[in-house]
Amino acid sequence: MSSESIPVIAIDGPSGTGKGSLGVRLARTLGWHFLDSGALYRTLGWLAMQEAVVFDDVVRLAHLAARLVVEFRDAAPGSGEMRVMCRGEDVTRSIRSEACAHAASQIAALPAIRAALLAQQRSFRQPPGLVADGRDMGTAVFADATLKIYLSASPEERAERRYKQLKDQGVNVNLRDLLDGILERDARDSARGASPLRAAPDAVIIDTTRLDLGAVFERVIYLLDARERRAGKNQ
Ligand code: C5P
Repeated sequence: MSSESIPVIAIDGPSGTGKGSLGVRLARTLGWHFLDSGALYRTLGWLAMQEAVVFDDVVRLAHLAARLVVEFRDAAPGSGEMRVMCRGEDVTRSIRSEACAHAASQIAALPAIRAALLAQQRSFRQPPGLVADGRDMGTAVFADATLKIYLSASPEERAERRYKQLKDQGVNVNLRDLLDGILERDARDSARGASPLRAAPDAVIIDTTRLDLGAVFERVIYLLDARERRAGKNQ
């Protein structure tokens, strides 16, 4: 089976729109692989901070990126929870910090870093299929994806979701600071020259501000069925 014939669902959009939860549920339901590409950029940001590499030192960052080995492991069979491992360390919690989100967004703006992570991301395309979550899954990494979804939601709703998530984890944060961080990263991700955050022309845009995960999931399954029916007819 050639890599191009392996189906991919690309899910893009800014943070806090529910891409991760949707991606994990789709992958579990379909029995497909799952790529959290943001975790790669976050882990690289985490590593850079560990090694005191400044975010504009492209040479050292590219060196780190070329050697980056990130492993995704099921936390427990059937739990749907993923553990992110790097250099033998469980970095799942650490990379979710605001500091790592900030580092990831700075590093991700560098074309050399994006290029260095391309092959690693594409290697996740394995049978029977892949659900990939990120910013440029449908526009760059898997431009030939079977189905492209772009999730959006108001910044206020996204900050609120993140606030609740962190509070549930016992982390004390300020809602205003979260909103400011989200707006700053949105601006950087959208303005960068290399693979800026935007919907692919053939992506289906879903605004999740007033939709729960179940409703978005049903919609995507419906779209996937319709694509597969159409592909079957054309064969
Ligand atoms: O998705 P997540 O919030 O974990 O991503 C963290 C950061 O990594 C984003 O703000 C973005 O700058 C970067 N990123 C990217 N391209 C991707 C995934 C993430 O530029 N495919």
